Amino acid sequence: MTPEAIRQVRTSYGEVAARPRQLASRFYEELFTTAPNLRPLFPGDLTSLQGHFEAAIALVIRNLDEMRALRESLQKLGAQHVHWGARPEDYVAAREALIAAVRALAPEWNGRLEQHWRTAITAIIVPMLEGAAVDAAVWAERLAAGMPEID
Ligand code: HEM
Repeated sequence: MTPEAIRQVRTSYGEVAARPRQLASRFYEELFTTAPNLRPLFPGDLTSLQGHFEAAIALVIRNLDEMRALRESLQKLGAQHVHWGARPEDYVAAREALIAAVRALAPEWNGRLEQHWRTAITAIIVPMLEGAAVDAAVWAERLAAGMPEID
């Protein structure tokens, strides 16, 4: 992302995040409206999850110019998500829900800002999916280690 794109995302995030839990609660509302099948994977009471989600997003927005530093922790988060039942395609729904939430809450919005947000969210999701893939590869290796030779 260019420094200007990062500045624009940070500014709109600052406006949206001024009221705690506003972004997270809107995000989950949007997500469960477009993907109601995901609701049972989450706890009934979302209060503490909303806090974790907002902390994660805040950390990423702060580090948009140094995303490599967060890659490993996002990969770990993605590996955990496999065990919570998240499938790769669910991340598309999550990205769109997060865009819809920011769009609804940001005082100003335009096509370019939306594109910057989409890029920023994709930069979160890609390492999460990498982590999910590594998790699967580790299980494949563990299983293969106990497997007799085939050929
Ligand atoms: C932008 C992408 C996403 C981000 C940044 C994100 C972030 C997080 C964070 C920070 C937590 C809390 C982790 C903890 O408590 O240690 C969490 C939990 C969770 N996430 Fe995500 N998530 C994303 C996408 C998804 C998707 C696509 C699903 C699809 C099912 C999902 C399902 C869950 C579930 C089920 C939990 C655990 C709830 C529980 O505590 O039982 N997340 N997520």
